[in-house]
Amino acid sequence: MHDLVNPEASAALPHHVAIVMDGNGRWAKQRFLPRVAGHKKGVDALRRCIKLCSARGVKVLSVFAFSSENWRRPPDEVAYLMELFTFVLRREVPKMVADGVQLHVVGEREHLSDRIKAALVRAEQATAHCERLVLNICFNYGGRWDVVQAANQLVQAQQPITEAALASKLALAHVPDPDLLIRTGAEHRLSNFLMWQCAYSELYFSDVLWPDFDEAHFDQALASFAGRERRFGMLPEQMASASTASPTPNHLIPC
Ligand code: FPP
Repeated sequence: MHDLVNPEASAALPHHVAIVMDGNGRWAKQRFLPRVAGHKKGVDALRRCIKLCSARGVKVLSVFAFSSENWRRPPDEVAYLMELFTFVLRREVPKMVADGVQLHVVGEREHLSDRIKAALVRAEQATAHCERLVLNICFNYGGRWDVVQAANQLVQAQQPITEAALASKLALAHVPDPDLLIRTGAEHRLSNFLMWQCAYSELYFSDVLWPDFDEAHFDQALASFAGRERRFGMLPEQMASASTASPTPNHLIPC
C-alpha cells in the first residue's frame, strides 16, 4: 500500500507517468492507411516516450497497450496487435536492457496465447535487473478486472478487504500510484485504465494523436504538471508541512 503523498515525487517532476496512447487509428485514417499502420507508428512514439522519461528523470512509465475491451475490435486488428506485441517484446528487449528499462507486463494473462505468455515472461526476466526506469505495459488490462482480481486474492486468503490490503494485491502494487496521467487523441475519459490508482493523479489531455506525440508535447505535459497544486483532500498549508515531514506522513487519508 502506498501513501497518498508519494515521497519520491517532487513538486515539479512526476515520479510515475501513465499514458493512454489514443489516436493510432485516426492517424492512419488521415493518411489513407490501414488502422494497423497507426499502431505500428505508435510503437515508435512509445519508444520515444520511454527515452524521454529516462532523460527527464521520470522513474515509472505505465502505458495502456491493449484493454480488456479491445477484444471487441475486428479480429484482424486484434490479431495484429497480438503479433505486434510479441514482435516488440522480442525486438526491444536488448535495447531495454541497454537503457536500464525494467519491464512488467500487467494484465490478465490466462487468455493470452502460449507464445505471448512465453515472450513476456522471457522479456520480464531479461530486464528484471534494470533500474533506470520501470515500464509497465498494460496488456489485456482493465481497471475493473484489476480490482476484482485483487479482491478475489483476499477472499481466497480469507483476509479482510481493507483499502491497504486491496491496494497490495493490485497489478501495479510494485510501484507508487501515477502522479500524472496523460491521454492523447482528444478524448477526455479514463476508459477503464488504472481507475483505483489514478484517484489522485493529475490528468492531462492532449489533442495530439499518439503517433505524433513528440518531445515538445511530452514536455508540455510535464510543464502542466509542474504548475499543478496537489492537495490530496487537504489544505495548502497542510500539504506544505506534509511534504517536509519525515518519514512520509501516514496520517493522510482520502476525503
Ligand atoms: C488506441 O488507439 C490504441 C490502441 C488500442 C493500441 C495501442 C498500441 C500501441 C500504441 C502500439 C504499442 C503497443 C504495443 C504492442 C507494445 P485507437 O486505435 O483507439 O485509435 P483511434 O481512437 O484513433 O481509433
